[in-house]
Amino acid sequence: CKPIVLYPTGGEETYLLLALLPTDLSEMLAEGTKESHDRAENCQFVKDFLRGRIKRELFKRGTAALYFVYSAMEEEIEKNKDHPHIAPIYFPTELHRREALARDLEHFYGEDWESQVSRKDTEPYVDRIHEVGGKDPVLLVAHSYTRYMGDLSGGQILKKVAQRALKLPSTGEGLNFYQFEGIHSHKGFKQLYRSRMNELELDADTKERIVDESNRAFGFNMMVFTELEEIGETIKEEVQDAGLGHSHAEIMQGG
Ligand code: HEM
Repeated sequence: CKPIVLYPTGGEETYLLLALLPTDLSEMLAEGTKESHDRAENCQFVKDFLRGRIKRELFKRGTAALYFVYSAMEEEIEKNKDHPHIAPIYFPTELHRREALARDLEHFYGEDWESQVSRKDTEPYVDRIHEVGGKDPVLLVAHSYTRYMGDLSGGQILKKVAQRALKLPSTGEGLNFYQFEGIHSHKGFKQLYRSRMNELELDADTKERIVDESNRAFGFNMMVFTELEEIGETIKEEVQDAGLGHSHAEIMQGG
Protein backbone atom coordinates (compact mmCIF):
# COMPACT_ATOMS: atom_id res chain seq x y z
CA CYS A 1 0.00 0.00 0.00
CA LYS A 2 1.59 3.22 -1.16
CA PRO A 3 0.66 6.53 0.41
CA ILE A 4 -0.17 9.41 -1.90
CA VAL A 5 1.59 12.61 -0.88
CA LEU A 6 1.10 15.75 -2.96
CA TYR A 7 3.99 18.19 -3.04
CA PRO A 8 3.29 21.56 -4.66
CA THR A 9 5.84 22.29 -7.36
CA GLY A 10 5.97 26.10 -7.26
CA GLY A 11 4.25 29.09 -8.80
CA GLU A 12 1.33 31.08 -7.42
CA GLU A 13 -0.77 27.98 -6.91
CA THR A 14 1.83 26.77 -4.40
CA TYR A 15 0.51 29.11 -1.73
CA LEU A 16 -3.06 28.11 -2.44
CA LEU A 17 -2.21 24.40 -2.29
CA LEU A 18 -0.18 24.81 0.89
CA ALA A 19 -3.07 26.69 2.47
CA LEU A 20 -5.42 23.86 1.54
CA LEU A 21 -3.24 21.07 2.91
CA PRO A 22 -4.26 20.09 6.45
CA THR A 23 -1.71 20.69 9.21
CA ASP A 24 -3.61 19.12 12.11
CA LEU A 25 -2.24 15.61 12.58
CA SER A 26 -5.72 14.08 12.88
CA GLU A 27 -6.73 15.54 9.51
CA MET A 28 -3.45 14.62 7.89
CA LEU A 29 -3.96 11.03 9.05
CA ALA A 30 -7.58 10.86 7.90
CA GLU A 31 -6.66 12.30 4.48
CA GLY A 32 -3.33 10.53 4.11
CA THR A 33 -4.69 7.04 4.86
CA LYS A 34 -7.94 7.29 2.90
CA GLU A 35 -6.63 5.19 0.05
CA SER A 36 -5.20 2.57 2.45
CA HIS A 37 -8.57 2.41 4.19
CA ASP A 38 -10.36 1.83 0.89
CA ARG A 39 -7.90 -0.91 0.02
CA ALA A 40 -8.27 -2.58 3.43
CA GLU A 41 -12.05 -2.58 3.12
CA ASN A 42 -11.68 -4.24 -0.27
CA CYS A 43 -9.54 -7.17 0.89
CA GLN A 44 -11.37 -10.41 0.12
CA PHE A 45 -11.18 -11.54 3.76
CA VAL A 46 -12.73 -8.27 4.95
CA LYS A 47 -15.46 -8.34 2.29
CA ASP A 48 -16.34 -11.94 3.20
CA PHE A 49 -16.38 -11.02 6.87
CA LEU A 50 -18.76 -8.10 6.23
CA ARG A 51 -21.10 -10.45 4.36
CA GLY A 52 -21.15 -12.76 7.37
CA ARG A 53 -19.08 -15.36 5.56
CA ILE A 54 -16.70 -16.18 8.40
CA LYS A 55 -15.48 -19.61 9.34
CA ARG A 56 -15.27 -20.06 13.07
CA GLU A 57 -11.73 -21.43 12.80
CA LEU A 58 -10.68 -18.34 10.88
CA PHE A 59 -12.30 -15.97 13.33
CA LYS A 60 -10.34 -17.72 16.11
CA ARG A 61 -7.08 -17.31 14.17
CA GLY A 62 -7.92 -13.65 13.52
CA THR A 63 -8.51 -13.10 17.24
CA ALA A 64 -5.15 -14.72 17.99
CA ALA A 65 -3.45 -12.46 15.43
CA LEU A 66 -4.97 -9.41 17.11
CA TYR A 67 -3.78 -10.68 20.49
CA PHE A 68 -0.15 -10.66 19.35
CA VAL A 69 -0.46 -7.24 17.69
CA TYR A 70 -2.09 -5.58 20.71
CA SER A 71 0.28 -7.28 23.16
CA ALA A 72 3.24 -5.77 21.29
CA MET A 73 1.59 -2.38 20.89
CA GLU A 74 0.49 -2.10 24.50
CA GLU A 75 3.83 -3.35 25.80
CA GLU A 76 5.61 -0.59 23.87
CA ILE A 77 3.04 2.06 24.82
CA GLU A 78 3.47 1.06 28.46
CA LYS A 79 7.28 1.37 28.20
CA ASN A 80 6.91 4.82 26.63
CA LYS A 81 3.98 6.12 28.65
CA ASP A 82 5.95 9.07 30.01
CA HIS A 83 7.34 10.07 26.62
CA PRO A 84 5.99 13.57 25.78
CA HIS A 85 4.50 12.30 22.49
CA ILE A 86 2.86 9.26 24.05
CA ALA A 87 1.64 10.49 27.45
CA PRO A 88 -1.24 12.61 25.98
CA ILE A 89 -2.62 9.61 24.05
CA TYR A 90 -2.07 7.09 26.87
CA PHE A 91 -5.53 5.71 27.73
CA PRO A 92 -4.95 2.21 29.10
CA THR A 93 -8.30 1.85 30.91
CA GLU A 94 -10.32 3.04 27.95
CA LEU A 95 -8.45 1.48 25.06
CA HIS A 96 -6.16 -1.40 25.91
CA ARG A 97 -7.34 -4.69 24.38
CA ARG A 98 -4.82 -7.33 25.44
CA GLU A 99 -6.83 -8.56 28.42
CA ALA A 100 -10.10 -8.59 26.45
CA LEU A 101 -8.43 -10.59 23.67
CA ALA A 102 -6.98 -13.08 26.19
CA ARG A 103 -10.52 -13.67 27.54
CA ASP A 104 -11.84 -14.17 23.99
CA LEU A 105 -9.09 -16.70 23.26
CA GLU A 106 -9.90 -18.57 26.45
CA HIS A 107 -13.52 -18.72 25.31
CA PHE A 108 -12.58 -20.15 21.90
CA TYR A 109 -9.63 -22.43 22.76
CA GLY A 110 -10.12 -23.21 26.44
CA GLU A 111 -7.83 -22.67 29.42
CA ASP A 112 -4.67 -23.80 27.65
CA TRP A 113 -5.21 -21.34 24.75
CA GLU A 114 -1.64 -20.06 25.00
CA SER A 115 -0.24 -23.41 23.88
CA GLN A 116 -2.56 -23.46 20.86
CA VAL A 117 -2.00 -20.05 19.26
CA SER A 118 0.95 -18.99 17.12
CA ARG A 119 2.38 -15.53 16.49
CA LYS A 120 3.61 -16.56 13.05
CA ASP A 121 0.89 -14.78 11.03
CA THR A 122 1.78 -11.44 12.63
CA GLU A 123 5.58 -11.58 12.90
CA PRO A 124 6.60 -8.66 10.61
CA TYR A 125 3.89 -6.43 12.12
CA VAL A 126 4.87 -7.30 15.71
CA ASP A 127 8.58 -6.84 14.94
CA ARG A 128 7.94 -3.39 13.48
CA ILE A 129 5.97 -2.31 16.56
CA HIS A 130 8.85 -3.35 18.83
CA GLU A 131 11.32 -1.62 16.53
CA VAL A 132 9.53 1.74 16.62
CA GLY A 133 8.82 1.39 20.34
CA GLY A 134 12.55 1.04 20.95
CA LYS A 135 14.01 3.43 18.38
CA ASP A 136 11.36 5.96 17.40
CA PRO A 137 8.49 5.95 19.92
CA VAL A 138 6.67 8.89 18.30
CA LEU A 139 5.66 6.45 15.54
CA LEU A 140 3.63 4.50 18.10
CA VAL A 141 1.08 7.31 17.60
CA ALA A 142 0.53 5.93 14.08
CA HIS A 143 0.10 2.34 15.27
CA SER A 144 -2.34 3.34 18.02
CA TYR A 145 -4.35 5.55 15.67
CA THR A 146 -4.61 2.87 12.98
CA ARG A 147 -5.96 0.19 15.31
CA TYR A 148 -7.86 1.96 18.09
CA MET A 149 -9.62 4.54 15.89
CA GLY A 150 -10.57 1.74 13.50
CA ASP A 151 -11.88 -0.41 16.34
CA LEU A 152 -14.01 2.45 17.58
CA SER A 153 -15.41 2.96 14.06
CA GLY A 154 -15.85 -0.04 11.76
CA GLY A 155 -15.20 -2.48 14.62
CA GLN A 156 -18.74 -2.08 15.86
CA ILE A 157 -20.17 -3.27 12.56
CA LEU A 158 -17.85 -6.29 12.65
CA LYS A 159 -19.00 -7.18 16.16
CA LYS A 160 -22.64 -7.46 15.06
CA VAL A 161 -21.75 -9.44 11.95
CA ALA A 162 -19.59 -11.91 13.92
CA GLN A 163 -22.20 -12.34 16.63
CA ARG A 164 -24.85 -13.25 14.08
CA ALA A 165 -22.68 -15.35 11.76
CA LEU A 166 -20.96 -17.39 14.48
CA LYS A 167 -24.02 -17.55 16.72
CA LEU A 168 -22.04 -16.21 19.66
CA PRO A 169 -23.91 -15.61 22.92
CA SER A 170 -25.59 -12.21 23.30
CA THR A 171 -23.78 -11.90 26.65
CA GLY A 172 -20.64 -11.07 24.63
CA GLU A 173 -18.39 -14.10 25.26
CA GLY A 174 -15.80 -14.27 22.50
CA LEU A 175 -16.44 -10.65 21.56
CA ASN A 176 -14.82 -8.80 24.47
CA PHE A 177 -12.37 -7.28 22.01
CA TYR A 178 -15.14 -5.20 20.44
CA GLN A 179 -16.57 -4.07 23.77
CA PHE A 180 -14.93 -0.92 25.14
CA GLU A 181 -16.23 -0.99 28.73
CA GLY A 182 -14.52 2.28 29.66
CA ILE A 183 -15.94 4.30 26.75
CA HIS A 184 -19.52 5.51 26.79
CA SER A 185 -19.53 7.51 23.57
CA HIS A 186 -17.32 6.24 20.78
CA LYS A 187 -17.84 9.48 18.87
CA GLY A 188 -16.93 11.59 21.89
CA PHE A 189 -13.84 9.54 22.64
CA LYS A 190 -12.64 9.73 19.06
CA GLN A 191 -12.96 13.53 19.24
CA LEU A 192 -10.91 13.60 22.44
CA TYR A 193 -8.27 11.33 20.88
CA ARG A 194 -8.06 13.50 17.76
CA SER A 195 -7.65 16.65 19.82
CA ARG A 196 -4.89 14.98 21.91
CA MET A 197 -3.07 14.03 18.70
CA ASN A 198 -3.41 17.59 17.44
CA GLU A 199 -1.93 19.02 20.62
CA LEU A 200 1.29 17.00 20.31
CA GLU A 201 4.28 19.24 19.62
CA LEU A 202 5.46 17.93 16.28
CA ASP A 203 7.22 19.46 13.30
CA ALA A 204 5.88 18.98 9.76
CA ASP A 205 8.38 16.27 8.92
CA THR A 206 7.48 14.15 11.96
CA LYS A 207 3.78 14.49 11.13
CA GLU A 208 4.50 13.20 7.63
CA ARG A 209 6.46 10.29 9.09
CA ILE A 210 3.50 9.43 11.32
CA VAL A 211 1.16 9.40 8.29
CA ASP A 212 3.62 7.17 6.42
CA GLU A 213 3.84 4.83 9.41
CA SER A 214 0.06 4.63 9.59
CA ASN A 215 -0.04 3.58 5.94
CA ARG A 216 2.58 1.00 6.81
CA ALA A 217 0.37 -0.24 9.67
CA PHE A 218 -2.57 -0.52 7.24
CA GLY A 219 -0.25 -2.55 5.00
CA PHE A 220 0.59 -4.94 7.87
CA ASN A 221 -3.09 -5.40 8.60
CA MET A 222 -3.72 -6.23 4.96
CA MET A 223 -0.89 -8.78 5.09
CA VAL A 224 -2.62 -10.49 8.01
CA PHE A 225 -5.94 -10.49 6.09
CA THR A 226 -4.22 -12.11 3.11
CA GLU A 227 -2.68 -14.80 5.36
CA LEU A 228 -6.09 -15.51 6.87
CA GLU A 229 -7.73 -15.65 3.47
CA GLU A 230 -5.15 -18.22 2.35
CA ILE A 231 -5.63 -20.30 5.50
CA GLY A 232 -9.40 -20.08 4.94
CA GLU A 233 -9.05 -21.72 1.54
CA THR A 234 -7.46 -24.76 3.17
CA ILE A 235 -10.10 -25.17 5.87
CA LYS A 236 -12.69 -27.77 5.00
CA GLU A 237 -16.44 -27.40 5.46
CA GLU A 238 -16.47 -29.81 8.46
CA VAL A 239 -14.45 -27.29 10.47
CA GLN A 240 -17.07 -24.60 9.79
CA ASP A 241 -19.79 -26.96 10.93
CA ALA A 242 -17.87 -27.73 14.10
CA GLY A 243 -19.20 -24.43 15.42
CA LEU A 244 -22.68 -25.94 15.39
CA GLY A 245 -21.51 -29.01 17.25
CA HIS A 246 -22.29 -31.41 14.38
CA SER A 247 -20.32 -32.50 11.35
CA HIS A 248 -21.89 -32.18 7.92
CA ALA A 249 -22.10 -36.00 7.66
CA GLU A 250 -23.91 -36.23 11.00
CA ILE A 251 -26.49 -33.64 9.93
CA MET A 252 -27.07 -35.45 6.60
CA GLN A 253 -27.61 -38.71 8.52
CA GLY A 254 -30.00 -37.03 10.90
CA GLY A 255 -27.35 -37.11 13.70
C1 HEM B 1 -12.73 4.94 10.31
C2 HEM B 1 -15.56 1.43 8.68
C3 HEM B 1 -11.73 -1.46 8.10
C4 HEM B 1 -9.02 1.81 10.39
C5 HEM B 1 -13.82 4.25 9.87
C6 HEM B 1 -15.14 4.80 9.72
C7 HEM B 1 -15.95 3.81 9.30
C8 HEM B 1 -15.13 2.63 9.13
C9 HEM B 1 -17.44 3.87 9.04
C10 HEM B 1 -15.54 6.27 9.91
C11 HEM B 1 -15.88 6.63 11.28
C12 HEM B 1 -16.04 8.14 11.45
O1 HEM B 1 -16.21 8.87 10.47
O2 HEM B 1 -15.94 8.58 12.58
C13 HEM B 1 -14.77 0.36 8.36
C14 HEM B 1 -15.25 -0.88 7.80
C15 HEM B 1 -14.17 -1.67 7.61
C16 HEM B 1 -13.01 -0.95 8.10
C17 HEM B 1 -16.68 -1.19 7.46
C18 HEM B 1 -14.11 -3.04 7.02
C19 HEM B 1 -14.64 -4.06 7.59
C20 HEM B 1 -10.68 -0.84 8.71
C21 HEM B 1 -9.36 -1.44 8.87
C22 HEM B 1 -8.60 -0.51 9.53
C23 HEM B 1 -9.44 0.66 9.77
C24 HEM B 1 -8.97 -2.83 8.40
C25 HEM B 1 -7.17 -0.60 9.96
C26 HEM B 1 -6.61 -1.67 10.44
C27 HEM B 1 -9.79 2.95 10.52
C28 HEM B 1 -9.30 4.20 11.08
C29 HEM B 1 -10.37 5.09 11.07
C30 HEM B 1 -11.49 4.38 10.50
C31 HEM B 1 -7.89 4.46 11.56
C32 HEM B 1 -10.36 6.54 11.56
C33 HEM B 1 -10.32 7.50 10.41
C34 HEM B 1 -10.24 8.93 10.95
O3 HEM B 1 -11.27 9.48 11.31
O4 HEM B 1 -9.14 9.47 11.01
N1 HEM B 1 -13.83 2.93 9.48
N2 HEM B 1 -13.42 0.28 8.54
N3 HEM B 1 -10.68 0.41 9.25
N4 HEM B 1 -11.11 3.09 10.19
FE1 HEM B 1 -12.23 1.70 9.32
